[in-house]
Amino acid sequence: MFSHDMRSPLTSINGFVGAMLDGTIPENDQKRYLHLMKDETERLIKLVNDLLDIARIEAGQVSIHPRNYNVSEQIRKLIAKLEPQLSKQKIDIEIQSNEEDDLYIFADRDRIDQVLGNLIENAINFSNNKGLVVITLSKIEKEVQISIADHGPGIPKKELKFIWDRFFKVDKARSQKVGTGIGLSIVKHIIDLHGAKIEVQSELGKGTVFSISLPTATNNTKNGGLNV
Ligand SMILES: Nc1ncnc2c1ncn2[C@@H]1O[C@H](COP(=O)(O)OP(=O)(O)O)[C@@H](O)[C@H]1O
Ligand SMILES: [Mg+2]
Repeated sequence: MFSHDMRSPLTSINGFVGAMLDGTIPENDQKRYLHLMKDETERLIKLVNDLLDIARIEAGQVSIHPRNYNVSEQIRKLIAKLEPQLSKQKIDIEIQSNEEDDLYIFADRDRIDQVLGNLIENAINFSNNKGLVVITLSKIEKEVQISIADHGPGIPKKELKFIWDRFFKVDKARSQKVGTGIGLSIVKHIIDLHGAKIEVQSELGKGTVFSISLPTATNNTKNGGLNV
């Protein structure tokens, strides 16, 4: 399965380039093929980056650098970045919070960016071209809980324990175009490195909720206090 993810973009790029060189593709169509090649190239770049990342994490070469920061702001920025994809796929995202003010956590901002990005992208991709994704932020004692809920197809109960495994995909045909099954294994590793928790609840035909809990920001002024 995985070798297919790697080989198929290379094969199609190679095919398109060959067809352009030997004049099989009319000049009018060339732009369209260049765009297809760009999409395939981007998929490969993402795949290679994910592979390198998981290899480094699994080799124990990644350490995290937690700091205090504004996670509400981080989520707004992530959503803004996903805007083009959201409107293309007719997905709405809503942020809900039980607090009026922004929430601050103590965590590795870049790595949590990766975690939230992966979870939100999954929620979008598995929502099947329309639907609402709800991100809920709540402060529970000394932790901030962030949950990402979608109204997609859900995950069968017997498959739930495998979703954190490298290259695992529930429905190979359905998600073939979308991903490689690496995302959630990276997510799990990063959460483990934080000594934090991730949970998933899913109901077939109804949707899926992923929740992570991270420590709230400390009042430690020695490190310069809040890094907003
Ligand atoms: N929000 C979701 N709704 C339904 N299935 C999901 C969701 N998130 C993850 N999955 C299932 O878990 C698998 C692994 O997810 P992930 O590691 O992110 O891989 P990818 O997104 O590359 O397929 C997905 O292929 C899919 O089968
Ligand atoms: Mg994914």
